[in-house]
Amino acid sequence: MSAHVLVLNGPNLGELGRREPEVYGRATYDDLVAACSATAAELGLTTDVRQTDDESTYLEWLHDAARGGCDGLLLNPAAWTHTSVAVRDAASMLPVPYVEVHLSNPLGREEFRHTSFTAGKAVGLVAGFGLDSYRLALRGLAARLDRS
Ligand code: DQA
Repeated sequence: MSAHVLVLNGPNLGELGRREPEVYGRATYDDLVAACSATAAELGLTTDVRQTDDESTYLEWLHDAARGGCDGLLLNPAAWTHTSVAVRDAASMLPVPYVEVHLSNPLGREEFRHTSFTAGKAVGLVAGFGLDSYRLALRGLAARLDRS
């Protein structure tokens, strides 16, 4: 059976395309979903791409994932990356690997973005390549799943 990967996007990412295009580019959230679906299909993975602006929903999705049902995750916790011990704690419960993904390179931006609460528990981190960050992260995760 093919591996199943959840892609969980945090706040404001639903506004892609309209949101600070000089930072995040012109690609829309629908483009992000399409890019993930196409790459996942190429890699023989199934995928479920979600976005929420509600932290408790994001935590619920992580709790569900911790109980099973997926083989790996891509997480872009967006602003919660830099603020949320709760998201980090929920990510720490995951029994399967996850890759942290960012469209922009937070280390090249404001100092408050230089800390990630969530990356420390990830198997890898891809940032700065726009939608390609997701494509590359899916490839890295697929290789990792093949090895395990
Ligand atoms: C982001 C980077 C975060 O600093 C920011 O708060 C976001 C998006 C990215 O994908 O580049 O909302 O996670």
